[in-house]
Amino acid sequence: MPALSPAARDRLKMPKSIAFIDDLLSRMTLAEKIGQLNLVTPGGETLTGTVVNTDVADKIKTGRIGAIFGVKSAEAVRVFQDLAAQSRLKIPLMFAEDVIHGQKTIFPLPLALAASWDMKLVEETARIAAVEASSIGIDQVYAPMVDVCREPRWGRIAESPGEDPVLASRYAEAMVRGFQGSDLSAPTSVMACLKHYVGYGGAVGGRDYDAVDMSPATLHDIYLPPFAAGVKAGAGSVMAAFNTLNGTPMHANATLIQRVLRQGLGFRGLVVADYTGVQELIAHAVAGDKAEAARLALKAGVDCDMVAEAYLDTLGASVAAGLIDEAEIDAACRRVLEAKADLGLFDDPYHRITWGRATQSVLTEANRAVARQAVAAASVLLKNEHDLLPLGKKGRIALIGALADDRVNMNGTWAVSGSPSTVVPILEGLREAAAGAAEILHAKGANIVDDRVLAARLNVHDWKDLSVVIDDRTAEEMLAEAVDLAGQSDVVVAVVGEAREYSGESSSRIDLLIPEPQKKLIRALKAVGKPLVVVVMTGRPLALTEEAELADALLVAWFGGTEIGHGLADVLFGAQSPTGRLPATFPYAVGQVPVTYAHLPTGRPFPGRFQKFTSGYVDMPDEVPHNDGLFPFGFGLTYAPVAYGPPRVDKVALAGDDDRLTVSVSVTNMGKRPTAEVVQLYVHDLKASVSRPVKQLKGFSKVALEPGESAEVSFTLLAGDLAFSVATSVDDLTRIREAGDYDIHVGRSSRDTQHVRISWN
Ligand code: BGC
Repeated sequence: MPALSPAARDRLKMPKSIAFIDDLLSRMTLAEKIGQLNLVTPGGETLTGTVVNTDVADKIKTGRIGAIFGVKSAEAVRVFQDLAAQSRLKIPLMFAEDVIHGQKTIFPLPLALAASWDMKLVEETARIAAVEASSIGIDQVYAPMVDVCREPRWGRIAESPGEDPVLASRYAEAMVRGFQGSDLSAPTSVMACLKHYVGYGGAVGGRDYDAVDMSPATLHDIYLPPFAAGVKAGAGSVMAAFNTLNGTPMHANATLIQRVLRQGLGFRGLVVADYTGVQELIAHAVAGDKAEAARLALKAGVDCDMVAEAYLDTLGASVAAGLIDEAEIDAACRRVLEAKADLGLFDDPYHRITWGRATQSVLTEANRAVARQAVAAASVLLKNEHDLLPLGKKGRIALIGALADDRVNMNGTWAVSGSPSTVVPILEGLREAAAGAAEILHAKGANIVDDRVLAARLNVHDWKDLSVVIDDRTAEEMLAEAVDLAGQSDVVVAVVGEAREYSGESSSRIDLLIPEPQKKLIRALKAVGKPLVVVVMTGRPLALTEEAELADALLVAWFGGTEIGHGLADVLFGAQSPTGRLPATFPYAVGQVPVTYAHLPTGRPFPGRFQKFTSGYVDMPDEVPHNDGLFPFGFGLTYAPVAYGPPRVDKVALAGDDDRLTVSVSVTNMGKRPTAEVVQLYVHDLKASVSRPVKQLKGFSKVALEPGESAEVSFTLLAGDLAFSVATSVDDLTRIREAGDYDIHVGRSSRDTQHVRISWN
């Protein structure tokens, strides 16, 4: 039978698919329908091997499992699928996996990919991930995560596209396109899953899984847009979030799932629970037991129950007791079957793995080349005194730091199928690039962290390869060795930062500093007096205030993945210019967060007329804006200065909803190296019925510029771009556009812009 995306099927009103599913549903028992809603991870040996534990095998053979996630090999996928073929109706299983920033070829973290502001590249990484994942039989990926986040204490900001709804929306679309391709039933396509619906990035205190409290307007204007964009791009599935939103847990939030997502945004696909999220309704204290939790979640619109087996264990009895209607189970089951049909599984349940065996699609040279290119595209240069970077390939370079010769941390968080053994460490990449020209000396210098309790926590997910290894030597011995090497060298490159599990799920932090042993190392290296480059590996915005003082050059390399060694060598020696821009504000200090460039004006802005009674901090210096970070959203230097002409508009007076504004600017590479400039367009609504943010990103374009080259960059602004939500509740919403004056800003970061004023009536 033909398989199309939900959107395409809707357009064509495809009777054949509907008839097929109607017929199948009519032949299913209630137990079989409930079985399709059961989503499990079998765990342990069975993930890669071929021995399935008998409980799981029995459940598959009797139609009590609809989908499995976390299976790591084509062989294992085949074994599970063979079991499904023994079930009465032979409904194929659907296989899912967390393919967050690559399958085997690991790309920089999602936050880093967003920092590239290059949506073609983002799409390409998702396409490669889809090809690699599908080759072992993965049908669905639990990505992209599109949670907007303005709270860097939250570890999952590493998986997010950052603080801005427009950047996050473009990222969501690019990821969905890359994963799903043009035909979801193709053997190289995988179904995207937008997660975590919704508001998860707004947890109080930055604590994972904690409550979220926000106004309906904030929800609609900041947190929902990337989901809307991903749905529009055709995403086949959505995952519910762990948090409560204004008191209602998302797994029980019928208003947000049924009314806002399905009716409002027109989402027709599958909603899956997050890991034990259904059962957690008991811990949230809105359900008394598993049966009630299951009923609440099903009624809210959660189709598949992940891991908890609350649906499997209780829904049958709830139907028998008349507490839920079988039609509600039918609706959820239909969506599971539709997803399987869209993925082509009814035509051939093995078509993805069969294809995978026929070609060697994993970790190819071409895939690695994209990962390598992504490192430069995502790296953000924050400081470069006297053009210290790029380094010449000459003399002696002291490469210092535990992370400089490391494979285990480089993939960062959520690289569940990536292997440290395929990573090119930074030391190796630099030595290869400098071979025969410069000598690279290396010393560890400091442990990532010295605290053994913290180290144990950071190592908790690492079964074989520890990400934090505490050296047998004393801190003083390590420091002395590094200082000695620095003294013998012409330039020092310190690679410092977080361990991979310092950010990611349940990895929130109460401070945003580079861990103290490495801070001491930087201070000691600075005291040597040689030019100092500090490279920061991180999964979140850090407060780099001291490092920005001490370093001559400061580069944020995030966690760069498989090709970090080659990619970073390209950047440090100038084969590539670092062209990333911050996708989230880097604060001056942790006490500033949450912080965003897109804040509202206050009645007493800092610095102000009444120096004391202004909206600022008494213990923060005046040079840094107190309501914005040390390094603002959109900021990043490159190796070539780019000059901006004045922004130009095609008209200054506009009227009506159909009018459109063209904004243009010319940019010129004034340097001697090729670069790419991220031209950013912001809008400021000067006066409205409610306070509006001081700036809001509305468009961006990354343009490659050869030395001396100029480019004309144009943006089209529609009336809808000026609209905002007025809402009394999350599902009672009006979007309005008010007549008035607007400043249209164009520039190289949220802080460094030029503007023209227009009126739009
Ligand atoms: C995470 C999800 C993930 C799921 C399955 C959960 O803990 O929140 O993002 O997809 O596990 O691994």
